[in-house]
Amino acid sequence: MTNAAIVGCGDVATVHAEALEALASDLGIKFVAVVDKDLETAEKFATGLGAAGDSSESSIKAYGSLPTLFAKEKIDVLHITTPHDQHIGLALEALHHGVNVILEKPLANELDQAQRLIDYLDENPDGPKIAVCYQNRYNVSSQELRRLLDSGELGAINGAYSSVVWTRTPGYYTQKPWRGQQAHSGGGLLMNQAIHTLDLLQWFLGEATEVKGTVSTDKYADVIDVEDTAHAYIRHESGVHTSFYGTLTNSRHRHVEIELDCENALVELRDGLVVNWTDGRVERFEERNQESEGRSYWGVSHELLIRDFYEKLGDQEPFWIGPREAMSSLDIAKSIYSSSAETR
Ligand SMILES: NC(=O)c1ccc[n+]([C@@H]2O[C@H](COP(=O)([O-])OP(=O)(O)OC[C@H]3O[C@@H](n4cnc5c(N)ncnc54)[C@H](O)[C@@H]3O)[C@@H](O)[C@H]2O)c1
Repeated sequence: MTNAAIVGCGDVATVHAEALEALASDLGIKFVAVVDKDLETAEKFATGLGAAGDSSESSIKAYGSLPTLFAKEKIDVLHITTPHDQHIGLALEALHHGVNVILEKPLANELDQAQRLIDYLDENPDGPKIAVCYQNRYNVSSQELRRLLDSGELGAINGAYSSVVWTRTPGYYTQKPWRGQQAHSGGGLLMNQAIHTLDLLQWFLGEATEVKGTVSTDKYADVIDVEDTAHAYIRHESGVHTSFYGTLTNSRHRHVEIELDCENALVELRDGLVVNWTDGRVERFEERNQESEGRSYWGVSHELLIRDFYEKLGDQEPFWIGPREAMSSLDIAKSIYSSSAETR
């Protein structure tokens, strides 16, 4: 049996809990406990999980801190689903206890915090495993695009365009104030929402070698002190550049877009992948359906990433989406902020 726990019983924790319950019998996972700094929140979450299964009382325990969890239970994998400024401290605490970690994105609220974890892993290469939750790499569209890029069939890439145009309400921030507070989140749209797309862009096109951009708070300035809108110009090590636009000020969620203008095709990633070959063929790859209670615009692939992580726990090599991989998108987001600050 592999004993699992979740720390941070908020919105995204539901998606992790659903995945654990779905994978439990297949992968021999025992979902042992949940932790929240607010014990009552943890207790309610644990009770809710029990109620979702059969009618018997939940066997999942609730704790108010990580030290208490580690003192009382033997945990093999800890899912960290807390706010951004609470990622690194909790991850290091788990690794110190020999516990493997699945950490929600972004890696950290600030680069120096993220670097602490990377330094620790460099000094302890044979320690427990750690994944960072960039689940959208498992989407059908992402996997197919990565495959096409690897095959060379698309030819040279002339350029890329990407957008994240979503909606938010003031309540999204007032209910969970950390989301709109620079000190806790380290940023707004770029750090919390568009970071997935920044991760995909650098995975497809290579690390960013030059980043310029601006950020602004266009709609929610009276509620938050982070940006709700951004644009950026990103040059990748491949030489390709991306024009990026993102905003949370729209009245509805549009699909995230990544468009690659290639020698042999125009490739459109937007709720699935469409490849418009220059010879007239059109290939379509449909995305999987969203079956979780999690919100569909988060992507549908949390369970696939979590499955992959548990299946590879015994492998020698580190998990493929670890802190180093996750540092690249954090770097891009922070470079956009620096560029924006310089041009003001
Ligand atoms: N991968 C995705 O698609 C995705 C989607 C949504 C959220 N997220 C990420 O998940 C994380 C959580 O987001 P959310 O919207 O669920 O947050 P939330 O505010 O809904 O929940 C966070 C919970 O963590 C608890 N908490 C805070 N500090 C703690 C600590 N030190 N110890 C224990 N518990 C603590 C809070 O009490 C709260 O219950 C963020 O990093 C966010 O970026 C990822």
